[in-house]
Amino acid sequence: MTKIAPSILSADFAKLGQEIKEVESGGAEYIHVDVMDGHFVPNITIGPLIVDAIKPVTNLPLDVHLMIENPDSYIEAFASAGASIISVHQEASVHLHRTIQLIKSTGVKAGVVINPATPVEMIRDILPDVDLVLIMTVNPGFGGQSFIHNTLGKIEQVAKWREELSLNFEIEVDGGVNMKTAKLCTDAGADVLVAGSAVFNQEDRKQAIQDILEATK
Ligand code: DX5
Ligand code: ZN
Repeated sequence: MTKIAPSILSADFAKLGQEIKEVESGGAEYIHVDVMDGHFVPNITIGPLIVDAIKPVTNLPLDVHLMIENPDSYIEAFASAGASIISVHQEASVHLHRTIQLIKSTGVKAGVVINPATPVEMIRDILPDVDLVLIMTVNPGFGGQSFIHNTLGKIEQVAKWREELSLNFEIEVDGGVNMKTAKLCTDAGADVLVAGSAVFNQEDRKQAIQDILEATK
């Protein structure tokens, strides 16, 4: 069953709690939280304070995507604030194995992310240690960008490795996911679809979520 993880980056921050409740009742399974530091990516967004504020608003797992330098320094803060999954970029972590173990030591699930230009081989050796693999299908930094199609081969390869190695992490995709691109992702092997603008730019969020799910069938 495909899961939808709406990215609150495209929500109305003046009524964030209400926005989250709306997608929760509309069939979302994770709340995707995009954390940007203005260094790893050219944008600044959410810190642990916001994670802490939205935690009581929803029963859904908070899927925290760290697009920051020195992720190790902030993992504890996001875990304490209420993250359920914390994902770090391979490109931002010199000692990725240590970073993944650090996430797990805080009691939350650990994910690894790769940018569109990063070869999938870069995360091959960490696969047995992660709960989630996030394949970026846009260059991280902003919502509303176009899906980069040549990332699909990486989803397929990760799904193949998962089967060959009998692992059971989830495969998530992030960026440019909409009614047109969703099925490409799920056909390639994705389990979780992050969708920001495709959900929050629609008046009826429940309908938007159902439309994306329907498009994968
Ligand atoms: C991009 C973020 C995404 C983004 C997705 O840097 O990681 O989660 O919000 O937005 P859409 O779905 O609009 O491409
Ligand atoms: Zn994201």
